Amino acid sequence: MTNQLSHVKRIAICTGGGDAPGLNAVIRAAVLAAINRDWQVYGIRDGFNGLLLPEQYPEGGLIRLTRNSVRGITHLGGTILGTTNRNNPLHFPIEGADGKIEQVDRTDELVRAMKLHQIDALISIGGDGSMAIATALAQKGMRVIGVPKTIDNDLDRTVVTFGFDTAVAFATECLDRLHSTAASHNRVMVVEVMGRYAGWIALHAGIAGSADAILIPEIPYDLSFVATKIRARAEQGSLFSIVIVAEGAKPLGGRTAILEGEQVGRAERLGGIGERVAAELQALTDRETRVVVLGHLLRGGTPTTTDRLLGLRFGAAAVRALQEGRAGVMVALDPPNVDYVPLDEVCGRMKTVPLDCDTMLTARDLGISFGD
Ligand code: F6P
Repeated sequence: MTNQLSHVKRIAICTGGGDAPGLNAVIRAAVLAAINRDWQVYGIRDGFNGLLLPEQYPEGGLIRLTRNSVRGITHLGGTILGTTNRNNPLHFPIEGADGKIEQVDRTDELVRAMKLHQIDALISIGGDGSMAIATALAQKGMRVIGVPKTIDNDLDRTVVTFGFDTAVAFATECLDRLHSTAASHNRVMVVEVMGRYAGWIALHAGIAGSADAILIPEIPYDLSFVATKIRARAEQGSLFSIVIVAEGAKPLGGRTAILEGEQVGRAERLGGIGERVAAELQALTDRETRVVVLGHLLRGGTPTTTDRLLGLRFGAAAVRALQEGRAGVMVALDPPNVDYVPLDEVCGRMKTVPLDCDTMLTARDLGISFGD
């Protein structure tokens, strides 16, 4: 296939933020779709570090991607390009004269570096942080196509992000496994999952994995309601319960549990709410309670078929977008098709769980407690 509309000859691909299953599928599809149009493809190492910190890459921060580079990677977790959720080019950390860490905007340098390497267009695969960077680069004249990635599923304007299905499938399997041990010991098992300020993973895995309570950031919880549910179950003969807690869940009138505060160039790290919930539930119910934090396990492993296919569709659609002369857009799932939405309509608009969506209503119809 030859390039008809866009005059693209050389493109770069980068993966930014936390890794998510399906990244390699996107890379493979984009590389093959581009090579099949006689374009050259380069990968930027570790987010934008490959261009902004070239001294750290003696073998080159920009690597040529060929058919060989992407052979047999669709089913692999992680990203062959490497990624980082530090060194955001919009807020790049540098040490000031007084030893304090300051932030500088290095997006102009990025645009110059791309020009120097004669890169005509960029495919930026990432979450909200990456889409904000992509928007800034697009505003500076770079041809950018965004591809929405995150296990958290919190990006707006796409029905789903790739990585989410794999994370939910794994969390659901963990809930299945925890049921037998919880039932054998008559325990309350509290399972903490990632998701930042959105409860998608907890909600979907909680329903599919038959949790008794689901605590999500969108509904500040009161554990007395969860304790009532646990006691009611015991009265009906089920002496165990499973509670899934999103890392961003917080008590009514209380705060989100933070492991590490926000730093220059990187977001705050959430975590620890599972321990709190377990301790309080044990006190309220007098039942033996254990905590499992799934954490980064949710980001690893083989992508599900759904995520592989979505990743491949997104990667190929990003290249078609460039061929059609599009720029400053993000590919998005709008079933049954992949569509394109302006990048600036995505940024700063976190997609949280709508409390009246049918998935929430389903959970309530099943008698699952949300601690409210
Ligand atoms: O955004 C993906 C995610 O896994 C979140 O669910 C989680 O809060 C965060 O990244 C963890 O980031 P890190 O890799 O820095 O621990």
